[in-house]
Amino acid sequence: MRLCSGVGWALAAAAVGIDSVTAQTTAVVDPQTGFTFSSYSGRYSLDPGAIDFRIAVPSEAEAGQAYDVVVQIAAPREIGWAGLAWGGAMTYSPLTVVYPSGQNVVVSSRWATSHVAPSAYSGASYQVLRGGTRVNSTHWQVTAKCSGCTAYKGRSGTMTYVRPKTTNRLAFASAKKPPSQPSSNTSAIEYHDVHVYWNHDFAAASNPKFADLVKRNS
Ligand code: HEM
Ligand SMILES: *[C@@H]1O[C@H](CO)[C@@H](O)[C@H](O)[C@H]1NC(C)=O
Ligand SMILES: *[C@@H]1O[C@H](CO)[C@@H](O)[C@H](O)[C@H]1NC(C)=O
Repeated sequence: MRLCSGVGWALAAAAVGIDSVTAQTTAVVDPQTGFTFSSYSGRYSLDPGAIDFRIAVPSEAEAGQAYDVVVQIAAPREIGWAGLAWGGAMTYSPLTVVYPSGQNVVVSSRWATSHVAPSAYSGASYQVLRGGTRVNSTHWQVTAKCSGCTAYKGRSGTMTYVRPKTTNRLAFASAKKPPSQPSSNTSAIEYHDVHVYWNHDFAAASNPKFADLVKRNS
């Protein structure tokens, strides 16, 4: 059943043109943190409700180089965990996995080389920004700076870069079932209910005051 819904969503993503360069994101200024984000509204079932995946890029980021990003993920409380795949696939791609734990939200750095539960990944590290992280009656949201999400060794062993000034094909996966130990960033997680691909416009996510905003929200 879960597998079927995952396949269904992959087909749906293909139908809306995952191979075109048309961005499926909108630019938003977050009044709380001050970051300009490029934001994707990720549907995870046929019911209303979405997980928002937002990315902010420092304006000085250059193609072919590593750069820090700020990622903000906001999910309805019925979501147990969500993961963002920076390379647009589960395997050989930095995975940002997030889940609520009481009034806190945990960020876990993961990596997979096959379609099994991803392991801890030391190639990316995160600084959670308190200014954009909260749990309320309807949603949980986390905002974190990632160092290591935009440059990594791909399947062939060569360095792969997430492009800062154009669109990148990203993917997410999510599950309603929470991790077994939500307070731990190495908790076991179970197979996702869905996985979805989209084209994320990084050009629209450029922030001239990136470093200042990171400091202000720390
Ligand atoms: C216990 C954890 C996990 C298990 C057991 C698992 C298992 C699998 C399996 C069996 C598939 C292939 C089935 C299909 O194509 O429908 C798949 C695909 C996928 N998974 Fe996972 N997964 C896990 C965690 C994650 C996480 C944390 C992400 C983060 C974004 C993720 C992203 C994806 C994506 C994007 C696909 C589509 C195919 C691909 O890109 O490789 N998965 N997963
Ligand atoms: C968990 O958090 C610790 C302390 O911040 C960090 O060193 C470690 O890399 C994190 N592990 C994962 C899997 O995110
Ligand atoms: C709860 O948090 C979500 C996600 O940040 C936000 O969109 C929503 O407006 C918040 N609701 C309230 C009542 O503050």
